[in-house]
Amino acid sequence: MSGEASTAADFVWVPRAAGIAREAGARLREFLAQGVETEYKGDVDLVTVADRTVEKLIRTRIGEAWPDHGIYGEEGTREGMERMFRWYVDPLDGTTNFAHGVPHFCVSMGLEQRIIRSGATDEDGKLVAGVIYDPMRDELFCAEAGRGAFLNGKKLRVSPIPDLAESLVATGFPSRKRHDNPNIHFYHEFTLRSHGVRRAGSAALDLAYVASGRFQAFWEFNLNPWDTAAGILLLEEAGGKVTDFSGGPFRLDSREVLASNGLIHDELVGLFTEMFAGRSPSPIPTPREYAARRLARAGG
Ligand code: IPD
Ligand code: CA
Ligand code: CA
Repeated sequence: MSGEASTAADFVWVPRAAGIAREAGARLREFLAQGVETEYKGDVDLVTVADRTVEKLIRTRIGEAWPDHGIYGEEGTREGMERMFRWYVDPLDGTTNFAHGVPHFCVSMGLEQRIIRSGATDEDGKLVAGVIYDPMRDELFCAEAGRGAFLNGKKLRVSPIPDLAESLVATGFPSRKRHDNPNIHFYHEFTLRSHGVRRAGSAALDLAYVASGRFQAFWEFNLNPWDTAAGILLLEEAGGKVTDFSGGPFRLDSREVLASNGLIHDELVGLFTEMFAGRSPSPIPTPREYAARRLARAGG
């Protein structure tokens, strides 16, 4: 791949992690081709044999490459949780797409260098490396702290678009406690104020797309560190910004992600503030009001 050799020369963790993510992605492609049964972890929280098998594969490969690193994986891996380096692994981000044969999903691996001192709880350390691999498009996004973010060897930079009105943005909806989530209101408001909102089904790819300038922003409620660790580092290394919904510092366990190209960030925080205060600036007709108008148009 053009340029990859020169960037790989500067990277410490990414070359081996990228190899692992590519191997994992190849397994996902095979599983997709052969078809897999879907099981339920919750209401609409899906899991397949592919999620579990690929997490096991990544766990084995990380163990071979870095025996002193910890691993925190979505499908239950909790290994070496006290260690200085910890990988956050989502073996298949986009399981719902995958289970329906929709070719939009990825492998996500983010490495944190943790703060170890006596008495400290599990406070956020520093994200030092991230790899996100989309096996269906053969797109490998990667980053290391202070060394930039790349897509298939090409340096990434966030979009220069300066306002929400000209932006394409993305979000997602949780599969757990979905009745307790207000995001549909934000979806509505952002749709009316931008070029559109995509709910593509993979939070890690959403973040990678903001880092690569395809989207200008992404937000979601209730994500987990395995969804975000790699993508957040990519975004920061590409010049973007990430905070919680109030504009405060993002934390891996804060469960609020507001990510952007930086230029539209204040506008986004402003909109969140307005909406949390109960002001939803753009009313739309209710289905009932619409039905009444429809009937009137039809002369009923
Ligand atoms: C999900 C995806 C989705 C997001 C959900 C996540 P999974 O991860 O990232 O886009 O909206 O909140 O749980 O379950 O496919 O790994
Ligand atoms: Ca996920
Ligand atoms: Ca997953």
